Formats: sequence, C-alpha cells, structure tokens
Amino acid sequence: MRVFSAVQPTGRLHIGNYTGGISQFLRLQGPAECLFCIADLHALTGDVDPSRLAADTRQVAALYLAAGLDPGRVTLFVQSHVPAHAQLAWLLACTARVGELRRMTQFKARRGDEEGASVGLFEYPVLMAADILLYDATHVPVGADQRQHLELARSLARRFNHRFGDTFRLPDPLLPEAGARIMALDAPGEKMSKSSPRPDSRIHLLDGPDEVRRKIRAAVTDSARGLTYDPVARPGVANLLNLYAALSGETVDAVASRFGGGGHEAFKSALAELINEHLTPIRERYRRWAEDPAAVEAVLRDGAARAATLAAPVLERATRAVGLLPTGA
Ligand code: TYM
Repeated sequence: MRVFSAVQPTGRLHIGNYTGGISQFLRLQGPAECLFCIADLHALTGDVDPSRLAADTRQVAALYLAAGLDPGRVTLFVQSHVPAHAQLAWLLACTARVGELRRMTQFKARRGDEEGASVGLFEYPVLMAADILLYDATHVPVGADQRQHLELARSLARRFNHRFGDTFRLPDPLLPEAGARIMALDAPGEKMSKSSPRPDSRIHLLDGPDEVRRKIRAAVTDSARGLTYDPVARPGVANLLNLYAALSGETVDAVASRFGGGGHEAFKSALAELINEHLTPIRERYRRWAEDPAAVEAVLRDGAARAATLAAPVLERATRAVGLLPTGA
C-alpha cells in the first residue's frame, strides 16, 4: 500500500481539511508507506499573494508536523521541490481532453468566464493526476470534494496505459466514513472552505478554545427539538453530528442518540470541547515548529530528496513509453 495526498497552501487550514485529509493521514502513517505533499504549484492557479506563499507553505508543513505526522515514518515535501511533478503533468496534459477538463466542477464553479480563466486553473486536475501517478500510489486519502479529480486521474492513467503500454498504477480514493464533507457553520448548504470570505464559516486549526466555542455556539441549526441525522431536512444539525462523529470515531446515529435528549446547547458545548481536545495539542506543538523554521525546512529538504528518488523511475518509465529520446546519462 503506497499512499499519496496533498494540501494546498492557500489560506488557513480548517477542521474539514483535518477530517477529510490530515486525520486520515495520521491513521495511515505506520500501516502504509506514505507521501504527503504541500501543493504549492496548485496554489498558483488561484489569486496567490507572492509575498505570502513561502510562509504559507512552511505553515502547512508545520501543521502536518504539529498534527503528529512523523518525518521518520512518512515523506513530507513541497511539490515544487520535485520538478518531476510538472514534467509528468505535461505528458498527462497531452493525454487529457479539453472536454473532460471543462466538465470538472471545480473549474466550472470557480469561473463563469471561461475565456478569462488561467490555463493553470484549467489544467489543475492534470497536475493533481501527475502528483498521484508519479509515486505509483495505490490509495489517496481525500475529502469528498476531490473524488471527481481522482476519477480523472484514473481515466488518464487508463488512457495512457492503453495507448503507450502499461505505465501507471490506478489509484483508489480513500474517504473517511464521517467528515468527508464538512459544511460551512453559518451556511450548511455550502462546503466549509479556506477561501470563504466569512471566517466564522469555519474552525481554523489554530483557533483558540474560546474562538472554537463561540463559532460552534453560533453555528446554524434549526428550531426542531432533539437531534436527528437528516442532511436534507436538517443540514445544520447533520453537519455538526457529522463533525462530532468524525472526531470521536462513532457513527452519526450513535452520536445523535447519545445527545438526542439533551438539546442543541448541550450538544454544541460537547462538540466544542471535542474539537478543542483535538486542536489544543496541535496548536501547542505548532508553536514550537513555527519558532524553528530551519527545522521545518530540514524536514522538507529530506522529504523532497526521498520523493525525488521515488519519482525518477516512474517519470523515466513514462518518458520512454511516449518515445522521447533518453538523455543517455
Ligand atoms: P485542499 O487543500 O482544498 O484540501 C485538503 C484536503 O482537505 C479536504 N477538504 C475537506 N474535507 C472535508 N470537508 C471539507 N469541507 C473539506 N475541504 C477540503 C480535501 O478533500 C483534501 O483532501 N487538490 C487538492 C490538493 C491536491 C491533492 C493532490 C490531493 C493536490 N494534489 C493529490 C490529493 C492528491 C486540494 O486542493 O485540497
């Protein structure tokens, strides 16, 4: 089992990134061979602030470490430090079809005006496919919003293999049972997102305990009594139950029946405390890593060297398969 996943260094990470991404990474380190990347090239497809990108990249790395990823057991690295990602993305771009990229919901949602969208944004899922295929990953832990991108990675691998001979392994997505899609606290019809202009729509991983309590208290629920898991009729309540279940490891129904008799307030305070139990140690360890950027950079340097070693033979396989003249080195 070889696991690959990544997080984009755009904005501050939130509790959805934790339940959909990082908490799965923690479960997989040890049982699987893992590579976790910071997708800084993907960040360039949005409105990135060049004066912040390096610091944000370091911050995601420090959060990976603070969350408990152990650089002795997993490979942590920055996407742009391993040029093979961009090289393989080109080979895959020549395999991808304009039509299939146009159908990607993330592209459709981010721009109404296709003519004005960057080519990078359009090609985003191709670069993501390259990230994954470059390491012969068997499993990709992600939240539900990345499922379509995983489908594309599989289609590109299948098409490439069909045309040029067996080159890539087809990866499977790994979605958590609960917490694969956490919704905005103040608008449970929308996904919780780093880019929302409303900071109260999400819990940041570095929010303090009082901030967490305040945001959860203010989260939209409804006026019906009791707690039942019904994402259509009661999206706010369902979202909080889902978040609780993701963090406690219980099922949503078990959580609903445990707190069902006590009213929304009691459930919300239990949820806030559970979130704080997860975030407080992360915040404390984060402070130590943030004070030592050289140590974070050393982890990333080692990680990039290890990742480059794994990527080289796969890129070589792909360049030979399409018939490029080898360097002869
Ligand atoms: P990103 O940075 O948007 O999100 C990182 C991880 O968090 C998950 N996630 C969520 N999970 C549950 N509820 C939410 N509201 C929520 N929001 C985000 C995402 O599904 C993801 O697992 N394209 C990717 C980064 C990437 C990547 C890759 C991932 C680049 N290359 C290769 C996997 C494999 C992204 O933008 O994630």
